[in-house]
Amino acid sequence: MGSSPARSRETFGESMEDVKSVLEALRSEALEALNEISGPKELEDFRVRFLGRKGKLTRFLRGIKDLPPQMRPLAGQWGNQLKRELEEALASLCLGEPDSPETRLDLTLEGRPVLRGSRHVITQVLEEILDIFKGMGFEVVTGPEVELDYYNFEALNIPPDHPARDMQDTFYISEEVVLRTHTSPVQIRTMEKQRPPVQIVCPGKVYRHDSDPSHSPMFHQVEGLLVDRRVTFAELKGTLTAFVRRMFGEAMELRFRPSFFPFTEPSAEVDIQCVLCGGDGCGLCGGTGWLEILGSGMVDPAVYGFVDYDPEEVSGFAFGVGVERIAMLKHGIDDIRLFFENDLRFLRQF
Ligand code: DAH
Repeated sequence: MGSSPARSRETFGESMEDVKSVLEALRSEALEALNEISGPKELEDFRVRFLGRKGKLTRFLRGIKDLPPQMRPLAGQWGNQLKRELEEALASLCLGEPDSPETRLDLTLEGRPVLRGSRHVITQVLEEILDIFKGMGFEVVTGPEVELDYYNFEALNIPPDHPARDMQDTFYISEEVVLRTHTSPVQIRTMEKQRPPVQIVCPGKVYRHDSDPSHSPMFHQVEGLLVDRRVTFAELKGTLTAFVRRMFGEAMELRFRPSFFPFTEPSAEVDIQCVLCGGDGCGLCGGTGWLEILGSGMVDPAVYGFVDYDPEEVSGFAFGVGVERIAMLKHGIDDIRLFFENDLRFLRQF
C-alpha cells in the first residue's frame, strides 16, 4: 500500500485534476460493475472489490493522508461522496432481495404488520354465558356430538313417534346414532353417573337439518341442569333472571311464558324485551315487543325414571340456551350465517 509520497503521487498524480480523473475512472468502473450484478454472490464480490478492506475505493481513501496537505480536504470530500453513492446503490439492490442474507437492515422501512387472531364472537359469547353460570355455582360438563338416539331422544322422554325425531330435523348416522340435535343428552349422561345434587352447564355444538337466515345446520347451545332436594320453580326463575340481567343489563325486562318440552313439566320459554324497539313492537319482535331467548322447565319425573333418581325425593330445573341467538341479539346481527362464513371484515368487529 502506498504510504510514501512517491507512491501516492504515482496513484493520484500531482494535481487535483489528476485526483479527479482517478475518481472518475473508479466511478465508471464501479457503476458498470453495479449494472452487472444479478445475484447475492456478485453483490458481495462488488462490495469486496470497491468497499471492502482492500477495496479500490478504500485504498484511495487511505492514500489521501500521503497527499500534499492542501489537496487532502477536497480529495477526502470527493472520495467520501463516491463511497456514499456506491453504498446507497448497493443498499437499494439489497432491498430488492428481501430474503438474501446480505439484506441490509433499513430502519426507515415500515414494519410488516403481524396479523393477530382473536377469539370468535361465538366463543366469546359462549364463555360469557358459562362465566355467568360458573359464578352461580354451576360446573361445566361436556358430552359427545355424535350421540345415541337413546340419550338424544328416548331418555329425554321423547318417544319414537315424536315430531322432534323427524328425518327433516335430525341428521341420522344410523338407526340408533344421530348428530345430537341439542345439548340436553348431557343431562342424562351426567345423572346416570352422578347422584344428586347436580348443578351443571353443558356447552357444545348441535346439528339440525335446517338452513336459513336464522337457522344453521350446526350451532351452539348451553344446557343447564340443577337437581337437588326441594328445588322449585322459584329457583328456576331466580337463576334465569340473574342470567338474563347479567347478559343484557340489570334493567332488562323478561317474562316466563308457558310452553311445552317433553323432558320438563311445567315448561316455560323465557322472553326478553325486544332489543331493537325496547318493547314497543317492531319487525324483529313481530310486533309483540318480546323476543324468545331460551327454553326451560322443571325436570319431568319421567326423566328421573331413566337415571334411577327418585322423583319423590328430588326435583330440579333445566334450561337450554342458543348461543348464536344470544350473540345475534346482543350484537344486533341479523343473519346467523355470518358467524360461519369467516369473513374477517365481520369477525374483526368483535
Ligand atoms: N333442548 C331444547 C331445544 O333444543 C332446549 C331446552 C328446553 C332445554 C327446555 C331444556 C329445557 O333443558 O328444559 O330446543
